[in-house]
Amino acid sequence: MDAIQIVMELSTPAGRADPYPRYAALHELGEAVRLGPGAVVVVGYDANNAVLRDPDFKTSDETTFDQTFPGWRSQPVLVQGADWLLNINGAKHARIRSLIARAFTARRVAGLEPAITVITDELLAGIADRGEDGSVVEFMHDFAYLLPVTVICELLGIPEADREGFRPVARDLAGIFEFNDPGSLPAINAAAVELLAYFTGLTARRRADPRDDLISDLLAVSDAADGRLTDAELLHNLTLLLVAGFETTTNLLGNGLQVILRQPEAGKAVRDGSVPVPAFVEEVLRYDSPVQLTSRVGREAKVGGVAIADGDHVMTVLGAGNRDPRRFAHPDTFDPLRSDGGPLSFGGGAHFCIGAALARLEAAVAFPRLLRRFPAIAPAGEPVRRDTLLLRGFDVLPVTVR
Ligand code: HEM
Repeated sequence: MDAIQIVMELSTPAGRADPYPRYAALHELGEAVRLGPGAVVVVGYDANNAVLRDPDFKTSDETTFDQTFPGWRSQPVLVQGADWLLNINGAKHARIRSLIARAFTARRVAGLEPAITVITDELLAGIADRGEDGSVVEFMHDFAYLLPVTVICELLGIPEADREGFRPVARDLAGIFEFNDPGSLPAINAAAVELLAYFTGLTARRRADPRDDLISDLLAVSDAADGRLTDAELLHNLTLLLVAGFETTTNLLGNGLQVILRQPEAGKAVRDGSVPVPAFVEEVLRYDSPVQLTSRVGREAKVGGVAIADGDHVMTVLGAGNRDPRRFAHPDTFDPLRSDGGPLSFGGGAHFCIGAALARLEAAVAFPRLLRRFPAIAPAGEPVRRDTLLLRGFDVLPVTVR
């Protein structure tokens, strides 16, 4: 099979359900493979790292939007998206990223640990109530979604009453990451408009009455005399933080539990402490990454032996880099004690995930508590995977807990 056929397969339901054999086939063709004029797929670990860490390989931004979708300014999601950290480069990226990072500090994240513990225990208590008679519990909604969404809302300062309503809206908006069907654009735009209106109202309230939350801190930064974060930039990046903050972490929790359900010894090792929790979490990230790929606009360079030209579309397949046999011994084996770790799942370079520490913390609090409370957790019926490639996770993961 040639590279184009393999990549085509990745966009079929079977390929999305299990991309790993396709990645293995791509690895046999090289660290990077040209798909044709203008398009290269990067699968090697080192090659992915090289692209992500090279500031001249830019993310799609306004310039790319102008070239590929001249009508983008009439699409609310793209108007917002054009200010997202993910879609800006150079000086604008450095400015906005440093301002957000100033509010989103390691201290603020670490300070969330007690709240994450309380939320985890509350959710586990609810699961215990529903599942104690042996009834089936749906892990994705009842835990994997509710934990990160509650935590990100807590961090941003979104009131409790507003939270449950976010799931469908944020999920619709996250559709832009997977975008391959123009028919879904109206729903994505509607979600973008709704979230923007919500954050406009909330920021007005926080401006009048600041609290100890990230939105109030960001407002203080944007209202500083030098006005280095415009209202639009702030509001647009709040919608990004919301969607980036829980779809992904939800999938980390679901993908990790699926490993445990399939290989109970992995759960036992976390429970009895023979595997350190952070090592387990890193291996889940490597083995079944919640974000499988991202992309860059190429510049003239050689990557993994392939010549890249200015403007090439470069698909950086993080999920494939995480299974690169050149880097990882037995890449398809789940081995939390491997010493060749270091997944690419949070990206690298200037756009490295700003929420990585938070996602790791949530998983590190959640898994041991879940496993100690429910040592007998077991699958209860077929899980249903989301039919997506970029974001990899489950829609439904039914379990029993006793
Ligand atoms: C397991 C969970 C997560 C995974 C796997 C993940 C993955 C990623 C990846 C791969 C990127 C880089 C994309 C690129 O280079 O093109 C990224 C960027 C980003 N992530 Fe995450 N993420 C996770 C959780 C979070 C959380 C919890 C937040 C926020 C609270 C967050 C916010 C962001 C933001 C704002 C960016 C853009 C950074 C920039 O472009 O400068 N992520 N994430």
